[in-house]
Amino acid sequence: MTEPNTIATSKLTARRGGPLRGALRVPGDKSISHRALMFAALAVGETAISGLLEGDDVRHTAAALQSLGVTVTRDGPGAWRVNGVGVGGLTPPDDVIDLGNSGTAARLLCGLLAGHGFSTVLTGDASLRSRPMGRVVTPLTAMGVTFQANEGDRMPLTVTGSDDLRPTAYTLPVASAQVKSAVLLAGLHAPGETSVVEPTPTRDHSERMLSHFGADIRVVAEGNGRRITVAGQPELIPAAIAVPADPSSAAFPAVAALLVAGSEISLPGLCTNPTRTGLYTTLAEMGADLSWDNERIEGGEPVADLTVRASQLKGVEVPAERAPAMIDEYPVLAMAAACATGTSVFHGVGELRHKESDRLAAVAAGVIACGVVVEEGADSLTIHGTGKAPAGGAAIAAALDHRIAMSFLVLGLASEAPISIDDASSIETSFPDFAGAMSALGAEIAPDV
Ligand code: S3P
Repeated sequence: MTEPNTIATSKLTARRGGPLRGALRVPGDKSISHRALMFAALAVGETAISGLLEGDDVRHTAAALQSLGVTVTRDGPGAWRVNGVGVGGLTPPDDVIDLGNSGTAARLLCGLLAGHGFSTVLTGDASLRSRPMGRVVTPLTAMGVTFQANEGDRMPLTVTGSDDLRPTAYTLPVASAQVKSAVLLAGLHAPGETSVVEPTPTRDHSERMLSHFGADIRVVAEGNGRRITVAGQPELIPAAIAVPADPSSAAFPAVAALLVAGSEISLPGLCTNPTRTGLYTTLAEMGADLSWDNERIEGGEPVADLTVRASQLKGVEVPAERAPAMIDEYPVLAMAAACATGTSVFHGVGELRHKESDRLAAVAAGVIACGVVVEEGADSLTIHGTGKAPAGGAAIAAALDHRIAMSFLVLGLASEAPISIDDASSIETSFPDFAGAMSALGAEIAPDV
């Protein structure tokens, strides 16, 4: 019997070719897209969203909201409308809610469900079911939510919200925008003020969007981080949202263009929120030729156009404090470091073990298989750059992790021998048609049949 075609074509191989040239508008920002749908669901009336990411993760959020009684309509590519039900207006779902691969959907939905006195079962794929949910269970339990979880606070997770939620003051034990956002979302449903202290600033899209929807929210500096306070039970006012292009998705073509000789590409409309741009700061320190033009504000977020030219990179030491501003970009930065001259050290990256896969282990194993010398620490990664193209020639297990899959395809564009990934399907979560978009720039990425 032959295998189904989808399995064969989900393998992709990247090989070295000519320079990358042209302009690419990468898909809408994933973090902002999830939040646009969820906050719009809590407003009273209709919100129009443009530029929404139509990847699997965001589609799972849209479907989840529909099953909780929210009308979500797609008018055309990236153009969606949400008829918000108001804070506390969700209705019980008929069935289990499956969130696929999306940790952001799972953690933020827990916050959204917290103030509703009914039970919902949340589940996801094998990757999501292995990820820790205790980080949202702890603060939301203190607010009055009841959870039943698999061992180790894993999904499937039954969330029983409360109509009498208590406000809280919570200090994040780990730098996590998902946990911060879950507590703020729950706080919207509690009387009085809820506050979250984050010892290190994390992405602040929830705070920006809450102001955009007219919530009473205050952000003040506290130590090296911030205290965010939101007043509960507001009436949120619908406000149109234009989702900027995702700097985390742009990281893949950007690093590819740096590594492939003679390349020059432009990546318009990227979100340049400083809580997201740590990778670009780091690449500039490595000697990358990056230029930012046309800086502007769109929908409450800073945006600019990026031009990237091929550059010889040198090793870099990335401080732990920068991790929250580039947490999703370490896998692709590792590919840049593998081609750089000298050694790179990434400090304070233990959180990478709790992403869609154990990214520290996956990156280290994959880069070693491509002929690069690496030391994997508990909370750090050291990469001895080859100063040129690594050998490549490896078959990489993507482990249901889109960023592992795309990172090794980027390395395959620069390495001596092609690099294959076993399963490209996860790329659909954040960057639909990644291979097509990269091919349009001249990259040689094709199904491995
Ligand atoms: C996200 C926060 C980060 C990030 C994830 C998206 C968000 O996760 O890795 O891809 O949208 O809030 P953590 O909150 O676990 O750091």
